Amino acid sequence: MNDVPSPIDLRNYDDALEWQITANVKRPWRQDFFGYYTKLIRTQTVDKCQVLELGSGPGFLAQHILSQLFHVEYTAFDFSDAMHRLAQQKLNSAERSRARYLIGNFKEANWKNALAQKYDYIIIHQALHELRHKKYATDFHKAVKTLLNPKGHYLVCDHLCAPDAMKNDQLYMNKQEHLDALKQASFENIKMPLEIEGLCLFEMIME
Ligand SMILES: C[S@@+](CC[C@H](N)C(=O)[O-])C[C@H]1O[C@@H](n2cnc3c(N)ncnc32)[C@H](O)[C@@H]1O
Repeated sequence: MNDVPSPIDLRNYDDALEWQITANVKRPWRQDFFGYYTKLIRTQTVDKCQVLELGSGPGFLAQHILSQLFHVEYTAFDFSDAMHRLAQQKLNSAERSRARYLIGNFKEANWKNALAQKYDYIIIHQALHELRHKKYATDFHKAVKTLLNPKGHYLVCDHLCAPDAMKNDQLYMNKQEHLDALKQASFENIKMPLEIEGLCLFEMIME
């Protein structure tokens, strides 16, 4: 039940840059998920809305959303200053004015206190496993729930543990384990709108 060490240090600029260079090449279908989030926000919200991305990395999703949805204000939360620097380089000044970058570590107690507001959409894409063990998922989801506005959406996309996907069953969860963790955090009506090549999206809406 020990944490699974990470093979790279994403707070290191070279490691962050390497991740940026390879992520979309290895998994071009990431764009399908980004397209899903963007379409969802476009069709569900017309007034100004608050989006929080946890483990936002080099800012691919922020750039995708901010360049298309002008009513979005984006909060990017990550423990890596190197990732935030890469993310900010992707935005023009108008996009940049609707984005804020927070340094924080979601493995620390009370990590959510730094966020100090509620959100209409909270997205964690390919970063839930950065908790470094699946045993932390339920408490993480519980913390996220307190940050959502009424009718807010929680979107969790991560690699599945499955024969044709990821094999480490301490780091990655199978579908049922994801569903159990979300239900234990009192999320109901869990949808799975998209699954491609072992990446699976779970979508929850607050009552
Ligand atoms: C695999 S990358 C995914 C980046 C982005 N979501 C994407 O898909 O393009 C995971 C991100 O989570 C961040 N991260 C890892 N552990 C973290 C922690 N404990 N707290 C906050 N961010 C963390 C890393 O710095 C990295 O930017």
